[in-house]
Order: sequence, then C-alpha cells, then structure tokens
Amino acid sequence: MILVTGGAGFIGSNFVLDWLAEHDESVVSLDKLTYAGNLENLVTLKDDERHIFVRGDIGNTELVAKLLKQYRPRAIVNFAAESHVDRSIHGPEDFIQTNIVGTFHLLEAVRGYWSGLAGEEKTNFRFLHVSTDEVYGSLAKDDPAFSETHRYEPNSPYSASKAASDHLVRAYHHTYGLPVLTTNCSNNYGPYHFPEKLIPLMIVNALAGKPLPVYGDGQQIRDWLYVKDHCAAIRCVLEKGRVGEVYNIGGWNEKANLDIVHTVCDLLDELRPLSGKWEVGSGKDTHPTPHSSFPTYRSLITFVADRPGHDRRYAIDARKIEHELGWKPAETFETGIRKTVQWYLDNPGWVSNVQSGAYRQWVEKNYMGRA
Ligand code: NAD
Ligand code: TYD
Repeated sequence: MILVTGGAGFIGSNFVLDWLAEHDESVVSLDKLTYAGNLENLVTLKDDERHIFVRGDIGNTELVAKLLKQYRPRAIVNFAAESHVDRSIHGPEDFIQTNIVGTFHLLEAVRGYWSGLAGEEKTNFRFLHVSTDEVYGSLAKDDPAFSETHRYEPNSPYSASKAASDHLVRAYHHTYGLPVLTTNCSNNYGPYHFPEKLIPLMIVNALAGKPLPVYGDGQQIRDWLYVKDHCAAIRCVLEKGRVGEVYNIGGWNEKANLDIVHTVCDLLDELRPLSGKWEVGSGKDTHPTPHSSFPTYRSLITFVADRPGHDRRYAIDARKIEHELGWKPAETFETGIRKTVQWYLDNPGWVSNVQSGAYRQWVEKNYMGRA
C-alpha cells in the first residue's frame, strides 16, 4: 500500500480517487483536516476497504512512525501543506509549522522506518515530495520557462516554506540516502478546488452574483494544469522517476489572470446564462441570486488592490518529464476548464458546504481592504 499525506485536500483527494480507480493497491490517507481538508471529497470511498483515513499531523512523528510500522507502505506521497499565498501573507506561522517543521518531522519518521527495511523493500521504497513552481520565483515576460536547474528564488512566505521543505527532502537523500523524488508543478485547477484560489473563487462568486476580484492589472501569468493531469504525472514519477531527481510538471499553458476570468465568465454565459432565466436577485449570497442588470458575467469583474510582492509570471519547462518518463498532459486548457466549470455547476451542495463561517471570515479579511 501507499501512504498519502494531505489526501483530503484539493490535489490529494483527486490523487487518491484516481489512484483507487486505476489500482487495487490500498491507500492510507493522513490528513490534519485544516480548513482546506474536506472529507466530503473522499465520500465515494466511504465503504471502500482499500482506503483508510487517519486524521493527524505530518509533524506528529510518533503517529507517523506508528502508521508506518502498522501499514508498511512501499511509498509515501507528500501533499500535506499550507498552500495559499494570500493566507501566507496574512499569517505565515502555519506555513512554517507545517511546510518546514512538519516536513522535517515527517522525514525523520520516514527515515526511521526506511532504515529498518531490508532487501527489495528498502531498495524499492520511495518518498515523493509534491512541490510547486513558485519556489523558482518570478519570470520576466521573455525569460525562458523554469527548468529543474533554475535557481531557487521564493518570494512569498508560502513559496519560501515550500522551498525549505524541498531542501530538506534533498538533504535527506544526499545525507542519509533516503530514496526521494521531488515534483514541482504549476497552478492546478479542477474538481474539489477550494474557492479561495483564483478559478474556483471566480466560479462561485459569479454564480452568486458577487464581484470577481482581479488583483492589480490582471496581467500576471500562470501556467495552468488540469489536476488529473498532475495526478497522472505523479503516478508516472512514482513508477519510473530516478531516485534523487526533480521533475517539473506543467501544462504548457501560460495565461494571464484576466484571460482566465474571461474564459470562466464566457463558459458560465454559455452553461448558465443570466439573461431572462432568473428573477432579480436579492444580492444576498443564496444561490442563485445574480442581479438582472448584469447582462454577462464579465460585468462582475472588479479590479482590486494587488497582492503584496505579487509574482508576475510562472512558466514550466516540462521537457524532462516528457522525454525521460513519457508523460504529457491529456487535457488542453479548453477541455479542462469546461469540465471544471461543469463540475461546480453539478455540485452546488459541495460548494455551499465549503462556504462555512470560517470561509466567509477569510473572504472578508482578504478582500475588505482591497476595494
Ligand atoms: P490544499 O490546501 O487543498 O490541501 C492541503 C491538505 O493538507 C489539506 O487537506 C489539509 O488538511 C492538509 N494538511 C495541512 N496541514 C497538514 C498537516 N500539518 N498534517 C497533515 N495534513 C495537513 O492544497 P493542494 O492545492 O491540494 O496542494 C497539495 C500540495 O501540492 C501542496 O504541497 C502544494 O504546495 C502543492 N502544489 C499545489 C498546487 C496548486 O495549484 N494547488 C500547485 C503545485 C503544487
Ligand atoms: P491563486 O489561485 O491564489 O494561486 P497562486 O497565487 O498560487 O498562483 O492565484 C492565481 C493568480 O490569480 C495569482 O496571480 C493571484 C490572482 N488572484 C486574483 O487576481 N484574484 C483573486 O481573488 C485570487 C484568489 C487570485
């Protein structure tokens, strides 16, 4: 079996669901269930004997050591992290605790377990660390995309904490021989994405007739990858990746934020048109309550104050994983974003359940001062 940390989060839950759809190999998911962890993402596995869910912290060495002894996984895939840049700006402490200190404790527990293995079990063991392109910093317009040898230049508390975790993982390989793999991926989107990040926030706000807050001039560029393509890439690296290597994962899909928001609006115009269908909304956030004076969703776009230290451009050079391991994305942005918007339209229950009091407090904190 394999151990997946952060399995109730956005990418982790997609990974666990896809893994069990493709393999019969069991999964233990270890997740602290922070605000970003959601057991509803894994509800279809409720009666599936191949999946065991454990609530706990990657920083709890004793718990992790106990789980490793009990389940003897052949691999660990480490998704657990604090993952939102804006939250790291408002409060970096949790990022230091989980992404740096937590990863350190996890590595210690894994080193203890792996040292006690023998023969093939030891040789074949893998620790796969899931990281981000943000550790490489920001690119100018005409700079070449990030390769695996690009200098680390993290700019936010989030990316700095992920950079530190990548360094720890690297050091555990060089110093102790732990068989690690590291992946650095670009921005993901898809089902189960918590609506604090750009794409799901725009979808849920648009459906509620609320402003679509674009930071700064909206010309910041990200390289977008459909989450299921990321999960397939991780499975590929786990199976075929060379120990100690880093693999960059991306969608060859650079887009400015404003273009992303336009695409989401245009898809909603097609799939859930505003005109004539709904009555004038109350303006409260019950669903659906768009205001009849909005002819298209684009008219909800509102430019707001920029993110401090906002990275201008990310782009991934994904040639290594393609040439060495044969992975490339299956979805184009057009197919992936259509599936994503449709998923949010098909899952209003999930959307309303994640918009709890804590979520509303976050929205107030992050957007109040920006108008
Ligand atoms: P997420 O915030 O949706 O999920 C993180 C999960 O980790 C949650 O379920 C949370 O409960 C859990 N968690 C947090 N702290 C924990 C702890 N101390 N112990 C155990 N569990 C803990 O994040 P995501 O978007 O799914 O990202 C997963 C990983 O992929 C992260 O490491 C992130 O840095 C990386 N990544 C994300 C993206 C992206 O676009 N979302 C891109 C590249 C890399
Ligand atoms: P986000 O989804 O938070 O991912 P990251 O910061 O890790 O790239 O943001 C993606 C881009 O969208 C980023 O340039 C910030 C921008 N953005 C907005 O313009 N408005 C928003 O409300 C949010 C959440 C993000």
